[in-house]
Amino acid sequence: MQTRSFNLIDLALGEIDKAIKTLTAPARSSRAVPAAAEGAALQGAARVESARLMRVNHAGEVAAQALYRGQALTARQPEVAAALRHAAAEETDHLAWCEQRLRELNGRTSILNPVWYAGSFAIGALVGALGRGTSLGFVAETERQVESHLRGHMDRMAVQDTRSRAILEQMTHDEVQHGAQAASLGARPLPFPVGVAMRLTSRLMTYGSYWL
Ligand SMILES: [Fe+2]
Ligand SMILES: [Fe+2]
Repeated sequence: MQTRSFNLIDLALGEIDKAIKTLTAPARSSRAVPAAAEGAALQGAARVESARLMRVNHAGEVAAQALYRGQALTARQPEVAAALRHAAAEETDHLAWCEQRLRELNGRTSILNPVWYAGSFAIGALVGALGRGTSLGFVAETERQVESHLRGHMDRMAVQDTRSRAILEQMTHDEVQHGAQAASLGARPLPFPVGVAMRLTSRLMTYGSYWL
């Protein structure tokens, strides 16, 4: 009983430590920032719009970290928990790339990131407890929605912002792989209303992070 309490406290402290690091420390990527042909320096409205869009994408990656960590925490099968933690580590590259591009654009991260992290962690923990098929189904659906969101951003972004575009293209490629991996591990389709609720939540996050 005592060992179990210590384990739970260790787990909770580990998750709090991870959350603080994600929200405050610069992310470290294992892969270099996707290279792009140097475009003309972005000015004025195009730079401001790119910074806003990259702030939204950065917030999405903060939420992805929290979702994966929450799901891994309550996953019952060790192999599923390991796959989720591995995916969270890969998403760290996306976080680091978005951070770097935001700096280059003189942008800033969203002040709402702690809210997105806490909310996403809670949703992830709940979904993880619903079992393997549902948890992986949630990953597959999330990645599908993120892919479509990223393609939308590439349509909106100034053509000359080749650096942001190269990052978003590589992220899109990775998200498709994450979704395929979840499907191959046994993702189950989610009930239709869940997909709708996820889209509404993501719209709220997109709107909030774009402005704040
Ligand atoms: Fe990502
Ligand atoms: Fe992903």
